[in-house]
Order: sequence, then structure tokens, then C-alpha cells
Amino acid sequence: MQLISSPEQMHILCSNFRKKTTNVGLVPTMGALHNGHKSLIETSLKENDTTIVSVFLNPTQFNSSNDLESYPRMIDDDSKLCSSLGVDYLFVPNTEQIYPSGYSSWINVGGISDKLCGIGRPGHFRGVSTVVLKLLMICLPDYAYFGEKDYQQFLIVSRMCTDLSLDTQIVLCPIIRDSDGLALSSRNIHLSPEDRETALLVVKAMKRVEKFFLEGENNCSKLIQTAKEILTEPSLELEYIEIVDSETLESLKEIKDSARIMIAIKIGSIRLIDNLYLEL
Ligand code: PAJ
Repeated sequence: MQLISSPEQMHILCSNFRKKTTNVGLVPTMGALHNGHKSLIETSLKENDTTIVSVFLNPTQFNSSNDLESYPRMIDDDSKLCSSLGVDYLFVPNTEQIYPSGYSSWINVGGISDKLCGIGRPGHFRGVSTVVLKLLMICLPDYAYFGEKDYQQFLIVSRMCTDLSLDTQIVLCPIIRDSDGLALSSRNIHLSPEDRETALLVVKAMKRVEKFFLEGENNCSKLIQTAKEILTEPSLELEYIEIVDSETLESLKEIKDSARIMIAIKIGSIRLIDNLYLEL
């Protein structure tokens, strides 16, 4: 595995791949890699001749400096994991390389960026879209891999690629969960055992909604009410819970054949998101 930090060097290398008939897969991450990231990487390794993993803790998508500073950093472990999996290139640019002095271009994917997480985290998706576009322009991948865990992010990145006629196919990979059901997240490291129990209420609530839906209830207010009855732990702050159309993220009153339940909570300063696809 080769470690590269210069965007220029990475771009020259990737431009050469473009001239050959090899497929390149990119897995963009912010590091502190866990089994969720690992599943994206393994999928890319299976589907491409060359796999690039990027690790860049993108400051422009954070809403508070505390959140950015406390974000786990473990580049040595990340590098070892990528190398052991057989990743070809680990791309680790620094902030000045991605946002040099005078940087002033931003991507705003309208509509879907303003809902759900976009309400509680203003500017977050502008930072995500901008950095992802930069990574795609630098690495020119045929495929880029994103997790269903951040489903709104996946939709926004897909919309951006379509709207800007980019050559990259965005691939959605399933949510990886711990054995207790909690979706893996780099932020879980900050959860105490009690916080973790509280966080698991999200999984319980989504499962209850799924059960009622499969039993025939399709009224979204009623389904959300059953979930809220579980999310009553005082240390849990519910940011949003919505049942939405999987393509548009529009809130639904009634589920026809399928929908997606989207949840964001806070336990102290730790913000967690999760979602579940509902289908008859
Ligand atoms: P990060 O949180 O490091 O996640 C990188 C990728 O891993 C994202 O596509 C995310 O959806 C996926 N992922 C995280 N947890 C997962 C899980 N439990 N199961 C499956 N996939 C999971 O998302 C970001 O970084 C950033 O916003 C980024 C796209 C890199 C732009 O900065």
C-alpha cells in the first residue's frame, strides 16, 4: 500500500488509471475506521482493480469546534487496517492541501440538504458535498462507496454526481451494526456503558415501528407515536424522527409499499443517527 498526501500526486496517478482499462474504487472516510468502513473497503476491493481509501477529517462539515476536536484520530491504526485489507492507496491530505489559503468555492445541493440533519446542522452538507466533489475530482474513481448509515449523505452525493454529470457511480453499502444492534459509528467510542444502553433505544424504537408496519399499520403519526413512547429516557434528546419517502426524503402521512424511518438523537454532546428501510 502506498500512502499519499499530495492531491497533485494523487491526481496525476489517477489520471493515468483513467487512460487504462482498470476500474478504480474510492472509499471516502474521516478515519477512526471500524467494521462499517471495512465493509465499504472490502466491497470496493472486490469490485475494482484499484482501491483508494481517503482519510480526511473535513473541518467544513463540523458545526462545533468541540465536535471536531473530540473526533477520534488514529491514522496509524487506520493505515495498518487498510494495508492488511489490501488497499492500494491511502490518501491522507491535510487541511491546507484541501482548502488552501483563499479557498472560496462551495457546493450546495438544494432541497434534500435542507431537511432532517440539514436543519439541526446548518452548513454540514455544504461541507460534505464540497469535500466529496474535491475527492472525486482528485481521484477520478469509477465507483465511490457510501454507507446507508448516512442515508441522507448518500442521496445528496448521488444527486450532486447526476446534476454535475460526473463520471463516478455512487454505490450504497448496507449499515453494519454491533451484535447488540447499535449502528457502528466513530462517535460510539465516546459512549459510556449507560449511554450505550440509551442509544440502543433507537434500535428498539425502529424495530417496533417495523413490527407495527408489517402487522398492517401504515399511518405515520401512529407509527412515530409508538417509537416516541420508547424514546423517553431523560438523557436522550430527540432531534428528529420522521418517516420519509426513500428517494425524496419528503415526510409521509401514510406508507404505501415502502418508506424509511430516519432518527437523530443526542446523548449529552454525542449526536447519533440511524435509519431503517420499511418494506411490505
Ligand atoms: P465517515 O463518518 O468516516 O464515514 C465514511 C463512510 O463510512 C460513509 O459513507 C459512511 O456512511 C460509512 N459508514 C459509517 N458507519 C457505517 C456503518 N455502521 N455501516 C456502513 N457504513 C458506514 O461520512 C463521512 O465520513 C464523511 O461525511 C465523508 C463522506 C468522508 C466526507 O467527509
